[in-house]
Amino acid sequence: MTAHARFRATIRSLTGIELPDHKVSMIEQRLRRRVAHWKFSDTDQYLSALLRDELPEEELRMVVDLMTTNTTSFFRESEHFDLLRSRVLPDILSRKSNHKPRIKIWSAASSEGAEAYTIAMVLAEAVRTGRRFDWAILGTDISSRMIEKGDQAVYLAEQITTVPAEMAQRYIMMGAVGTSAGKARIVPELRRKVHFREMNLMDATYPIDTDVDAIFLRNILIYFDAPTKAAVVHRVARHLAPGGYLFVGHSESMIVREPGLAQIVPTVFQKALT
Ligand SMILES: C[S@@+](CC[C@H](N)C(=O)[O-])C[C@H]1O[C@@H](n2cnc3c(N)ncnc32)[C@H](O)[C@@H]1O
Repeated sequence: MTAHARFRATIRSLTGIELPDHKVSMIEQRLRRRVAHWKFSDTDQYLSALLRDELPEEELRMVVDLMTTNTTSFFRESEHFDLLRSRVLPDILSRKSNHKPRIKIWSAASSEGAEAYTIAMVLAEAVRTGRRFDWAILGTDISSRMIEKGDQAVYLAEQITTVPAEMAQRYIMMGAVGTSAGKARIVPELRRKVHFREMNLMDATYPIDTDVDAIFLRNILIYFDAPTKAAVVHRVARHLAPGGYLFVGHSESMIVREPGLAQIVPTVFQKALT
């Protein structure tokens, strides 16, 4: 087996991410700096050394991180956030006691946090304009780089153009001078309620509460093979409260075939109440 093939098998077993033949040039491009850093003459030599454990342990972590695709945006697939506001939140709240209701949402595969902060804006708006409730959001991702970005909550001005203007004004601060110029940061009021943690969806169990009201598992299943997709959905679903909701990406609706989850719209599923 070539070093490339062994490397792809290693990435698949560590992360679930499939790297088929047509991704070889993407791999080469993403590893270019690492190959140059260690002064190898080509990627094959670098991968052979990596797989023979000749490089520091940290190198493999770094490479795993480099193999992740972190594309995301604020209000991506915006119908999900309309549904969250108009149907999902009212339904969840209707089943909570009136005394200090608290909503928990998990952005599994959160990338740099745009999804988690989009949810935060929707929840903050719901509290501002309607019934009072407390809420917390957890974002998890395998990439330590992305977790750090989520914690910092700093984005480029062009990344926030998809945030509705009124919400941007309320929940995003624009830097005006020095290194902050042209950068946007989520306000502390939301940052305090959104936390990020490194977590691998390939792990057999997740250190996450089992009474989560809604889980966003979007644009991640597409990277996995069929058995991995099913296993991840099964494990994730264990963390939903009865009546809780699972959101998947628009190209992922056919993947969810989990007993106990009913499809309410093509990409949103609800866990049975009992
Ligand atoms: C394309 S992004 C999706 C971000 C966001 N959910 C969205 O829809 O905009 C996929 C994310 O999944 C993460 N990821 C890949 N494999 C993972 C795994 N095994 N466990 C946890 N996260 C993983 C990547 O690091 C990446 O940030």
